[in-house]
Amino acid sequence: MYINPAWRILTIGDGDLSFSHSLLESYRPRMLTATIFDDHSSLITKYGASHLQQLQAKGCEVLTRFDVTNNQTWGQLNKHQFDAVFFQFPLLPAFNSVEDFKQQCLNISLNTLHRRLLRHYLLNCFNYFLDSNGAQLAFITSKDVKPYRQWHIEQSLTLNSDINYLGSMKFEIEKFPGYKIRNVDRDKHVKDTQGITYVFSQRTSTELDNKLIKAKYLADNYCSYCRVGPFYTEKDKQNHLVSKKHQKMALFEQQWLNDIDKFEQ
Ligand SMILES: C[S@@+](CC[C@H](N)C(=O)[O-])C[C@H]1O[C@@H](n2cnc3c(N)ncnc32)[C@H](O)[C@@H]1O
Repeated sequence: MYINPAWRILTIGDGDLSFSHSLLESYRPRMLTATIFDDHSSLITKYGASHLQQLQAKGCEVLTRFDVTNNQTWGQLNKHQFDAVFFQFPLLPAFNSVEDFKQQCLNISLNTLHRRLLRHYLLNCFNYFLDSNGAQLAFITSKDVKPYRQWHIEQSLTLNSDINYLGSMKFEIEKFPGYKIRNVDRDKHVKDTQGITYVFSQRTSTELDNKLIKAKYLADNYCSYCRVGPFYTEKDKQNHLVSKKHQKMALFEQQWLNDIDKFEQ
């Protein structure tokens, strides 16, 4: 992952604030505002106050109870003043109860709920958080294993919008000393499987152009849902399209398209 120290940075959903703290110490960005979904007392109970205090002592704003999908929770955040926004390893908060799970997942899959969270995140980055005259970059870092890769981050989140997917970078945690990837609502580290940082902008060209990879499975003769190919014959392709793996991804995709149609008409 590349970080330009000239950027004014906003972090979203930064569990224990260790990512923001490491970002500040290692890259010294021009400005850093860190946000977490938890309230202040949950942060202290789960992770202690040390990252919070160190960030605040160095002049960073830290906003708690910040839900990226709900502008009523953004408090005094100054809008349109950031160059780059980061959401590291997004995951929905744990459900409060079986009833809560049933309610939220009524006729809808967890896959769709995660895509909804990430689409909201991207739309709000470009509508509210990013300065249109700044670097104009929104980042999502996620794991390259199921179920995360089934969210189809590169192609599904920006449908019918003016946001472009620009490419990805390998996320190398060793470049962020002290960063502990936290599991949702548990004081545990998420297993350190490989991470990928996906990059979005309203621009088609940015300062990251020569640092980004465009995966080969996004080309025409591949299946980008399942990341397989190239298909050399039509028969190859048809065999894949009827496979169980593809059918499952196609169902997720259809559910997502229905969701966008239903909520964004
Ligand atoms: C797997 S944890 C990763 C935490 C942290 N980013 C890290 O890298 O250690 C997923 C995070 O996403 C946050 N999150 C989920 N929904 C959110 C929302 N609507 N707004 C802001 N953060 C959210 C959770 O609170 C949680 O901290």
